[in-house]
Amino acid sequence: MTVSTFEVHRGRGAFNAAFFGVLGPYIDRSVRRHKQRVYADLPSTVVEIGAGVGANLRYLAPGTTLIAIEPNRPMHGRLAAAAGRRGVRLDLRERVAERTGLPGGSADAVISSLVLCTVADPGEVLAEVRRILRPGGTFRFVEHVAAPDGTLTRGLQRALRRPWAWTFEGCSCERDLAAQVRGAGFSRVDVRAYRLHSPFVPFNTQIAGIAYA
Ligand SMILES: C[S@@+](CC[C@H](N)C(=O)[O-])C[C@H]1O[C@@H](n2cnc3c(N)ncnc32)[C@H](O)[C@@H]1O
Repeated sequence: MTVSTFEVHRGRGAFNAAFFGVLGPYIDRSVRRHKQRVYADLPSTVVEIGAGVGANLRYLAPGTTLIAIEPNRPMHGRLAAAAGRRGVRLDLRERVAERTGLPGGSADAVISSLVLCTVADPGEVLAEVRRILRPGGTFRFVEHVAAPDGTLTRGLQRALRRPWAWTFEGCSCERDLAAQVRGAGFSRVDVRAYRLHSPFVPFNTQIAGIAYA
């Protein structure tokens, strides 16, 4: 089944929903302080692109309305259940981040984690994020990125890129996403790079930041 540009794969979609459901708490512990920083003081309505099974719900105050743009149907059941447990009002849209269908200038905040690595064209998604943000609105992101050239991690990212992309439904561990966000036309971009020490080595080089529309 295809939803716009996203092809839902029954087997891998279910695998990824289970993977992020089971490993979500571990991933969250690794990135929590970065998420706490960039997701601080979110407004009462938030748009999330690629919400998955709800990794970022814990950063929303109960009563928040979350407009979740998530084309991967196998994620939807877990996402809805987690939103219910956290007291978040879920407005789930089975759409792609390239074409959210939301009105221009309508969002105060857009959040994402581990999504720009997976979308077909991050530039197209960033243009859509800018379109839907009101002037002064924020895009808060946490992403894994390419390691510096010549490092062992970079070599591993290159060697594993095909099985990694196959397993994680198109995910690339070779993107310079800080440069892409900086080049996307936001009025200001604050971004920090950091390194995790997880067993998922290609995923350990990360960035977190806030871009202002
Ligand atoms: C690696 S998972 C991350 C999920 C969640 N944000 C997290 O941090 O656990 C990538 C997510 O992006 C979604 N995704 C992939 N392509 C997308 C697109 N074009 N538009 C919106 N979401 C997309 C996938 O379905 C998946 O839920």
